Amino acid sequence: MSHASYPALRLRRTRSAPWSRAMVAEHVITPANLIWPLFIAEGKGVEEPIAALPGVSRWSVDGIAARAREAAALGIPCIALFPNTPSHLRSERGEEALNPDNLMCRAIAAVRDAVPEIGILTDVALDPYTAHGHDGIVDDQGRVRNDETLAVLVEQALVQARAGSSIIAPSDMMDGRVGAIRARLEGEGFHDVQIMAYAAKYASAFYGPFRDAVSTRGLLKGDKRGYQMDPANSEEALREVAMDLAEGADTVMVKPGLPYLDIIRRVKERFEVPVFAYAVSGEYAMIEAAVAAGAADRDAMVLETLMAFRRAGCSGVLTYHALHAARLMEG
Ligand code: PBG
Repeated sequence: MSHASYPALRLRRTRSAPWSRAMVAEHVITPANLIWPLFIAEGKGVEEPIAALPGVSRWSVDGIAARAREAAALGIPCIALFPNTPSHLRSERGEEALNPDNLMCRAIAAVRDAVPEIGILTDVALDPYTAHGHDGIVDDQGRVRNDETLAVLVEQALVQARAGSSIIAPSDMMDGRVGAIRARLEGEGFHDVQIMAYAAKYASAFYGPFRDAVSTRGLLKGDKRGYQMDPANSEEALREVAMDLAEGADTVMVKPGLPYLDIIRRVKERFEVPVFAYAVSGEYAMIEAAVAAGAADRDAMVLETLMAFRRAGCSGVLTYHALHAARLMEG
């Protein structure tokens, strides 16, 4: 192979006109690469703006169905749902997670009915339902008990599948949860319900605004470092992904997104599976804060960060900017 050098080689040549930049672009981002997370509120006709996430609201079930319709119309293939469970329904063991008529299941059913063509991703973890804000069953010392939690998560996943979930997304980071959920879904005939494992989920400061959105900020006792990953580790992320795939995950997620692009790239290179990133609440809030301070151009930042996920190897990105981004992509 011969390598030309300057002046025969001028890398600016292919950058010199829009048609040429378009022709040599290595990656594209379209609305099909987006998943839109939505927060559900109790009531009817309710929209509750979330102060920590300017531009994001909780919607009652009717509003969630309307948002899903907007997403589908723009070519967004999938939404993700998170309930803000009323405080009187939160308990030590999070039993409300198993109520087939809970806020989550009513929202799933409403979307399934109103927009049958859209994918519905549902989070499996107990934190929106527990009085202590942890993702599982807690012992006397405040530690989350792995195997006892698994038994509940399996039931939670089943309740969501029965309501019409398309993708079960365990975000709890218990060991063995993907296998336990897959076995139960198979046993109940839900062969086509996918599992997207939050495989490499880090104990992150970037989840702050989310905890306002689902009202766990004031409740959470201690932190989640006993089950979520240490930001110091990357080999462990590969082990997590390997384990979840061996247990039957269809797709895997890395979370948060931007600070972990190196993990996305390593996972994509090692495993031949679709990889997703969650651009979490703190990432959204950082962009919005920069925009509010007059320091940045929202549209350009949103599109550039989404392209970065594609370049790193993502099939898609969960982002609170999904609707806005899809509109930008439409032109
Ligand atoms: C719950 C869950 C969290 C997020 C998604 N699912 C929070 C947490 O683990 O504390 C965070 C999403 C975001 O910050 O946007 N298990």
